[in-house]
Amino acid sequence: MALALVATATLAACGGDTPTGPKNKSCTEDPTQVKCQPPTDTFPSTLKGMAARTGRYFGASIYAGFRSANSAAYDAILAREFSMLVAGNDMKWDAVQPRRDAYNWFWGDSMVAFALRNGMKMRGHTLTWHNQVPAYIRSQNWSADTARVVLTEHINGVVTHFQGRIYAWDVVNEPIDDSGLLRDTLFARSLGGTAFFETVFRSARAADPAALLFWNDYNLETPGPKQDSTVAWITRLKAAGVPIDGIGLQAHLAITAGGSGAAAQQVYFATLQRFASLGLKIHLTELDVRLPVEGGGTVELQAQNQAWANIIGACRLVSACEAIVVWGVNDGESWLTPGNVRKPLLFTDDLSKKDVYYTVLNALR
Ligand code: G3I
Repeated sequence: MALALVATATLAACGGDTPTGPKNKSCTEDPTQVKCQPPTDTFPSTLKGMAARTGRYFGASIYAGFRSANSAAYDAILAREFSMLVAGNDMKWDAVQPRRDAYNWFWGDSMVAFALRNGMKMRGHTLTWHNQVPAYIRSQNWSADTARVVLTEHINGVVTHFQGRIYAWDVVNEPIDDSGLLRDTLFARSLGGTAFFETVFRSARAADPAALLFWNDYNLETPGPKQDSTVAWITRLKAAGVPIDGIGLQAHLAITAGGSGAAAQQVYFATLQRFASLGLKIHLTELDVRLPVEGGGTVELQAQNQAWANIIGACRLVSACEAIVVWGVNDGESWLTPGNVRKPLLFTDDLSKKDVYYTVLNALR
């Protein structure tokens, strides 16, 4: 629609008399005149194209089996719309190192190869997390030394394997709990927070000096104790020379019945500014906007569109915000799928573009 408006306006201005000059030929009389050519500032018609206009990436998370399960049509959408990919599950600890002495690279390698073939950047998700870890991690109570060895072994193994092929790693995922305290996990307990963060970020930097290293978490998009605590931790760690390059704001946004739930653009903007002022790059790493469990009517759908526009609009205003990644392509593959009523993504299950797709495209302009 925006394209049509731009084109119409330009053609209307084309041709006819000027008040003072000699009679110009109209475009119908001479369509080869420069003034009659289509505008050169037309907007791209894909998410990645629109994001690239301002030097940003637009990405998606995908799952194992994406090639066989989802068909050529799905692959074509990935290649057409996205300039960044992330494995939704297949680079997590339980997937890549299911036993201490056994690695599994099949799906990770397959996704990286697909991404690189299609000119996309790859995000690595995630080196450490409290979920999706194998049994040999879950059942332990380690000394600090053992914890450090196991962590370093994992990070060296994984980052070295993918070395040179991952644009940015989520080195830590969700390390702070909802009240703003360091999350009580095996490694944080064994090492203490400072030594845990130092170990993981320094090991990752050593294994692939070119990869950007991110701290990734949810519920950081709006102010509160979790955001304050995260800012305080990162400030301290960076002052001590720990190599943290970026903050990943997962941005799993939710619309509640009646249409509230998401914040105003200024609120997201203030958050992005706050993290940018720490010298961090910002990626919106897992963006989706879900409707209430009971589904949504006109009001909730409007609020959902507005939430997409608000957060992407905020990213557009902060130059450190360099990537926007959606957590899945079509509604049916979302982690929020049961019942498929929450419709948090940009494509329907038959891979048609939803209204929110156009909202996002417009917000990226
Ligand atoms: O692989 C098994 C399969 O063998 C089994 O048949 C099936 C039965 O339920 O489960 C499969 O494992 C599921 C796995 O996804 C792969 O599909 C797990 O049950 C399920 O819990 C797991 O969910 C993932 C979730 O992380 C786990 O916490 C979601 O797909 C994944 O999208 C989600 O991603 C997280 C990010 O990593 C961090 N931020 C939050 C985000 C959403 O929860």
